[in-house]
Amino acid sequence: MVKVFNIAIFASGRGSNTRAILESIDRGKIHARISVVISNKSDAGIFNVAVERKIPHRYLNPSDFGLEEEYTNVVLSVLDEHDIGLIVLAGYLKKIPSTIISRYRNRIMNIHPALLPAFGGVGLYGMRVHNAVIDHGAKVTGVTVHFVDEEYDHGPIIIQEPVRVNDDDTPESLSQRVLRVEHEIYSKAIALFAEGRLTIHGRRVYIQQ
Ligand code: GRF
Repeated sequence: MVKVFNIAIFASGRGSNTRAILESIDRGKIHARISVVISNKSDAGIFNVAVERKIPHRYLNPSDFGLEEEYTNVVLSVLDEHDIGLIVLAGYLKKIPSTIISRYRNRIMNIHPALLPAFGGVGLYGMRVHNAVIDHGAKVTGVTVHFVDEEYDHGPIIIQEPVRVNDDDTPESLSQRVLRVEHEIYSKAIALFAEGRLTIHGRRVYIQQ
């Protein structure tokens, strides 16, 4: 029997990646369930997804806590309560406190809409990434799914998929093509994790066939 993982989603936005992951779970492609959704934005679209799918959800904004430690403790207790095996960042715009990163070392994934280490790092998120790709005149961009470490967009890379930049692309048209690829490969990476097929040595992630 394949173990079913409890996943926690952290998201700040509309939640299209979360919807794609839920579809993959529904189709039996990921042996896991989304057990809780956490967002730092009270009006984020992700809450509509959680309500529609009857997933427990929490609004937790680090800015509402006096000390980072207090925020960290609340998040850790929510994760414990749901017996979380994997944290999935799906458009989450806040930094994850280092205590949570070390407790969940190599059990936190992020998706980035470019081929890291290009077009990543502090300040490069959302449309800013696609603007930077177009401004730079890059011919290829893509999607990266990686484990999260203490630095932005830096942890071990799990999967990357290239996307060609067309001459007539705008940041918007490019973002739409990239987003379709995001929806495919995030589920793939999560499925590999849930099946126990990812091994990490240093910065390298090996996928067992
Ligand atoms: C995606 O483009 C993702 O790569 C980035 O934030 C966006 C989230 O989109 N990290 P959604 O909320 O999943 O629709």
